Amino acid sequence: MNGRTVDVAIVGGGLVGMTAALACADRGLTVALSAATRPGSASGAAAGMLAPSTEGATAPVAAFASACRDAWPPYLDQLAGRSGRRVALNRLGILQVPADEGGAGRLRAAAGAGSDWLTPLQAAELEPGIVAPLGALLHERDGAVDNEHLLLALDEAIGATDHVASAGEARGIRLGRGTAELLLADGGTIAAGRLVVAAGAWVSQLEGLPRAIPVVPVRGQMIGFAAAPVRHVIHGPGAYVVPRPAGRTIVGATMEHAGFDAGTSPEAATRLADAAGRLAPGLAGLPVMEHWAGLRPTTPDQLPILGPDPEHGTVLYACGHSRNGILMAPLTAECIAALASGVPSPWPLEPFSVARFG
Ligand code: GLY
Repeated sequence: MNGRTVDVAIVGGGLVGMTAALACADRGLTVALSAATRPGSASGAAAGMLAPSTEGATAPVAAFASACRDAWPPYLDQLAGRSGRRVALNRLGILQVPADEGGAGRLRAAAGAGSDWLTPLQAAELEPGIVAPLGALLHERDGAVDNEHLLLALDEAIGATDHVASAGEARGIRLGRGTAELLLADGGTIAAGRLVVAAGAWVSQLEGLPRAIPVVPVRGQMIGFAAAPVRHVIHGPGAYVVPRPAGRTIVGATMEHAGFDAGTSPEAATRLADAAGRLAPGLAGLPVMEHWAGLRPTTPDQLPILGPDPEHGTVLYACGHSRNGILMAPLTAECIAALASGVPSPWPLEPFSVARFG
């Protein structure tokens, strides 16, 4: 690709970069997709939760987060058509289990549109695999997507379009008057009409950005069991529990400021396993079969940075999704592809502007 000119160069080959590449290709744009293999990349490490309710996507972005969640079923239908892969989507709802009476009172008071308070008996009837002696709040439309399978499906869909070319690892960008170039780690360059910055937790390491981007890695350790005692995603004290296909259950996650270290610790695995066993007794005492960590790209307010740079319109940010990268990827991609085509974003992006950080 070195020396070529494309409509859009995307830095970041994770979920956000891949969905953005496909959305741009669907608008007829030529795309260079720059990917690097990095331990701890969040797209594969995540639990795939689609959880505006429990993952902090509240005002002022609650409507966007709900729209993101509801975009998943049609997105996966379309992806199945182009990749031949039907990616599993769990939309049974997320059961939020309180830690104590105070928490139960708060959850009961929060019940409303889209969420239902369940008594202990109702919770046990709906999900016999959990312990919820104080009741639980059911977030009816939330759930999880199998993000590992999703990445394979996206890879195949991208491979099937001749609009997206792989560009290798980027080290930075170079901006001139109305010009933009992607600088590759091997010394090559690619000129682009628009540069999309979707480099996950590593965004601040890119050279040549017009401003400092306040995204830091926050490590989340995860564990996996070869058992499937629950059907719903469960969010409770100290852990969330996510059923996966093929009799597997994954449990997350820690929140650790450990720089770019994607290592794991036995203490964290024990804490997560204990919390999971208290929520879902079918997991108690089972051997932990898998243990890994991902690096969330986290902003100070936990909201993503989406949209153009205020001074260099050729640069489009699609980063800092914090705890909601999987949830927000398809709608992020739609917004970015619209802007890259020179038309307004289908969703107002002011709350997500990088300008909010001054
Ligand atoms: N969205 C789940 C997490 O960040 O741990």
